[in-house]
Amino acid sequence: MADTIENLLHEARRFPPSAEFAANAVATAELYERAGEDRLGFWADQARELLHWHTPFAHTLDWSNPPFAKWFADGELNVAFNCLDRHVLAGLGDRVAIHFEGEPGDSRAITYAELLVEVKKAANLLTALGVGAGDRVAIYLPMIPEAVVAMLACARIGAVHSVVFGGFSSDSLRSRIDDAAAKLVITADGGFRRGKVSPLKPAVDEALQDGAHTVEHVLVVRRGGNDVAWTTGRDLWWHDELAQVSDEHEAKPFPAENPLFILYTSGSTGKPKGILHTTGGYLTQAAYTHRNVFDLKPETDVYWCTADIGWITGHSYVVYGPLANGATQVLYEGTPDYPALGRWWDVVAKYGVTILYTAPTAVRSFMKQGRHIPEDRDLSSLRLLGSVGEPINPEAWIWYREVIGADTAPVVDTWWQTETGGIMISALPGVTTLKPGSAQVALPGIEVDIVAEDGASVGADEGGLLVITEPWPAMARGIWGDPDRFVSTYWEQFATQGWYFAGDGARRDKDNEIWLLGRVDDVMNVSGHRLSTAEIESALVSHPLTAEAAVVGAADETTGQAHVAFVIIKDSQVDAAAAEDAAEILRQHVAKQIGAIARPRQVFIVAELPKTRSGKIMRRLLRDVAEGREIGDTTTLADTQVMSIIASTMK
Ligand code: PRX
Repeated sequence: MADTIENLLHEARRFPPSAEFAANAVATAELYERAGEDRLGFWADQARELLHWHTPFAHTLDWSNPPFAKWFADGELNVAFNCLDRHVLAGLGDRVAIHFEGEPGDSRAITYAELLVEVKKAANLLTALGVGAGDRVAIYLPMIPEAVVAMLACARIGAVHSVVFGGFSSDSLRSRIDDAAAKLVITADGGFRRGKVSPLKPAVDEALQDGAHTVEHVLVVRRGGNDVAWTTGRDLWWHDELAQVSDEHEAKPFPAENPLFILYTSGSTGKPKGILHTTGGYLTQAAYTHRNVFDLKPETDVYWCTADIGWITGHSYVVYGPLANGATQVLYEGTPDYPALGRWWDVVAKYGVTILYTAPTAVRSFMKQGRHIPEDRDLSSLRLLGSVGEPINPEAWIWYREVIGADTAPVVDTWWQTETGGIMISALPGVTTLKPGSAQVALPGIEVDIVAEDGASVGADEGGLLVITEPWPAMARGIWGDPDRFVSTYWEQFATQGWYFAGDGARRDKDNEIWLLGRVDDVMNVSGHRLSTAEIESALVSHPLTAEAAVVGAADETTGQAHVAFVIIKDSQVDAAAAEDAAEILRQHVAKQIGAIARPRQVFIVAELPKTRSGKIMRRLLRDVAEGREIGDTTTLADTQVMSIIASTMK
């Protein structure tokens, strides 16, 4: 990428909001003032204005047992009621909630009234299957409306969903089912991907084959039409079961701190952690950010977030934020380039999408394909563009604005995490003068800082660690089953100050605005998918060929980062052809163990790994090799020859 850190910080282009945009914008500068004067009062107002409370809360924040926050804890609400019933009761039942576009070209428009009926039936079905408040339900589905229905049905009855991305392997699915002790799995026969049916049910069967699990039933949505193996008594067809239940269902209130979902995410160790989110605070922040950051006008906008529901972006900005706000949105099943490049732009034109929220990796791959592809389509409906998942380089930001946004649409770069639940740092369109490449400022109500290791704020043009200094409504309430790990991962680094350590490096510029610089731990972002190098290393060493493995992240023009593995195999006398075979076997093995998204870009079979005298692998040197740079200082290596041996193997 041409954008080095130094170039980034000299990025001088600025984009103030147009007078017209500012005049009609949802968010105004008063939000900052109000939140600045009384932060908790500000959040209480948001919670009251944006949500329906069955029982109003009197107490905004209980921070008596940090880092375990309670927001609006004496209030009661029902998340599904907030996302559906109240809109229908307000006379908006005929508004389209979801324009579903299947990959084969099938489409369905689902109104709020229709979605409510489906969710009521699904809630009755879950109850009939013995799922009650607090029980966990694993959801392993493609991007189809039933995924939304399944999530909302859980929320409606107070059950806790754990959505597992459909690209994860049966092993990954199993470990998530076990960790959460899920009672039910909701899956599909298959989904469409690049013109073919990609089966899902076999992974569920494989995950459950040994019988030593907590799952009582598997509900199967028919989508792919592919044949599936069937376990009688355990497996049930979604459509058959739904046909037998009532479509009446009353949404009962639950306390605001009732769990809503667990979502597994990678940390710097091998085992993914189940991030726990609850209802009242989470929904408040999801709705508030969705409305203000995306300038949502629910009567006229057609919103499209391209994230899969298997990730946090899909939870907060496909399901909960947009539906709580009564938005009309597009849900698309497939990939951006099937059956042809430009499929996304056809979708934008077909539905008149006005707000698009996607990841920089997608923008960069569109740049590579050439501007003629979007330019051949009518994208004139687009008025606001969002970016999430990794830093967006100024070059991609400008291209996104110019080519997709007709040189007028504001681009908002939104920083947040699975753990934060909702957007934390972003410009507000209509208020902020935009700066390509920078996520800019904390949202009203959010307090962040960039600090040195000792906690001192860094000065202008200096880099440090990003911390969140005050609790926020959508913050994670813990790691499922492992409260100590929650404390040690996020709160120990700055325990004296009581700050949340995000794991990201950041820089403050002369205007006091924030530039995200990537993770400071072993967590990586490949095409917007969060994975840790440790997870991939443990998959590699689980193969009998492997003696030792080290994985590093290397910059990649399209995917942002890519995994590069260095592996010592047990039979050290292999020739080049055998090494190539071994490398391919290991790449496939990682895909099988974790999922295709984790398959390393390259696996290098090497004779040695660079280690310090105390035996620590020097990943910095491997990163130099992986990125084709001159190899850095090797003086602390136990054996200083190792790097030249590795470099020569690679030639
Ligand atoms: O490194 C940051 C990066 O993604 C990480 C969080 O990943 P995940 O929990 O999967 O959530 C991704 C979607 C919210 C962060 O620690 N990240 C996310 N958004 C940005 C970003 N890095 C830079 N700029 C962003 N806008």
